[in-house]
Amino acid sequence: MAKSILILNGPNLNLLGSRQPEVYGTTTLDDIHQSCKKRAAEYGMEVDFRQSNTEGELVDWLHEAKDSHQGVIINAGAYTHTSIALMDAIASIELPVIEVHLSNIHAREEFRQNSYIARVALGQICGFGAIGYEMAIEALASHLQ
Ligand code: DQA
Repeated sequence: MAKSILILNGPNLNLLGSRQPEVYGTTTLDDIHQSCKKRAAEYGMEVDFRQSNTEGELVDWLHEAKDSHQGVIINAGAYTHTSIALMDAIASIELPVIEVHLSNIHAREEFRQNSYIARVALGQICGFGAIGYEMAIEALASHLQ
């Protein structure tokens, strides 16, 4: 059976393409979905790609992933810097989780430099724009081998 990975996107990422293009680029979330599907297929993996502006929904999806997916890639948006609930959910599901950000959060405002996700993630990829998602797929595929 093909491996399935869950790619979660948090608040405001539905606006990619038009949202602060000087920071996040002009690639839309749908563009990222398509490139992730292609890249994952190269590793024989399927992608379940989702976005929510609601913290609780992201927590629920992480819980469900435990029984349906082999790994998770997450760009939690601003919840990265605030959500102990997402951190606890990731710590609870015993799946490899890779954190992604389009921008280099460490080179931005001080409040973005703390990531609760990084404390429980396998690793973090940030600053490379949309390609970061593909880098995360490669890292996850290698980890799952
Ligand atoms: C982001 C960085 C976060 O600080 C911000 O709140 C986002 C996007 C990124 O992909 O660069 O919404 O996660």
